[in-house]
Amino acid sequence: MKIGILGAGKAGTSIARAAIAAGDEVAIAASGDAERIRLIVEVLVPGAVPTTAAEAVRDADLVVLAVPMHKFRAVDPALLAGKIVIDVMNYWEPIDGRIDELADAPYGTSVLVQRAFPGARVVKSLNHLGYHELEEDARPAGAADRRAVAAASDDDAALATVLAFVDRIGFDPVDAGPLARGILLEPGSPLFGAPHDRAAFEAVLDAHAEALVA
Ligand SMILES: NC(=O)c1ccc[n+]([C@@H]2O[C@H](COP(=O)([O-])OP(=O)(O)OC[C@H]3O[C@@H](n4cnc5c(N)ncnc54)[C@H](OP(=O)(O)O)[C@@H]3O)[C@@H](O)[C@H]2O)c1
Repeated sequence: MKIGILGAGKAGTSIARAAIAAGDEVAIAASGDAERIRLIVEVLVPGAVPTTAAEAVRDADLVVLAVPMHKFRAVDPALLAGKIVIDVMNYWEPIDGRIDELADAPYGTSVLVQRAFPGARVVKSLNHLGYHELEEDARPAGAADRRAVAAASDDDAALATVLAFVDRIGFDPVDAGPLARGILLEPGSPLFGAPHDRAAFEAVLDAHAEALVA
């Protein structure tokens, strides 16, 4: 697959390395032109192409949105129209500042991201583990200690694509259901940062999803 990554920071470069290790083609962009990130990308993500946001997204089968949450509205919605977009962002007040809309989002921040990018096929995933864990905890399919990573979306085909990507980069994929369930994957949820296997992850997810409905 062709993966376009917006954000060449800790999360973006880690996901880029994981995708390259899985055999995907990766183009990666920060907020400016390609020259500003060329050296970082050469060193941290050998094999990835440093480029602009528009170029990274243009031919991508899958886009990863890995910019600081308080900056996501700077991304042009037209760029993401029709694209499957993994929202890996978390709202974190010490980094993002106080933003009431994000802090109080009743169904989580990815619902707001989907609203901001109405043409995109938003899938929340990969946000609930630390960037270093993407490499440290990746395991081949069938490994006894393989960790679960969930994805939530209102677009079934996009969700299936992202779950397959999660599996390819070394984690047991868990279908977390609609995008509004994404709140169960965010900071403050017991699933955030929890290194569960699939069975344990699904058990906690189901218990909390019931509470969400109630
Ligand atoms: N760090 C983690 O372990 C981790 C894990 C899961 C999820 N996340 C989430 O992932 C997001 C990014 O976190 P991070 O730790 O990777 O942040 P970071 O290290 O600060 O990197 C942010 C990157 O986003 C780029 N960026 C900013 N505005 C942009 C735009 N409009 N278009 C394209 N790129 C843009 C920045 O480039 P410039 O220098 O050009 O601004 C920078 O390369 C956050 O929401 C975070 O909560 C982080």
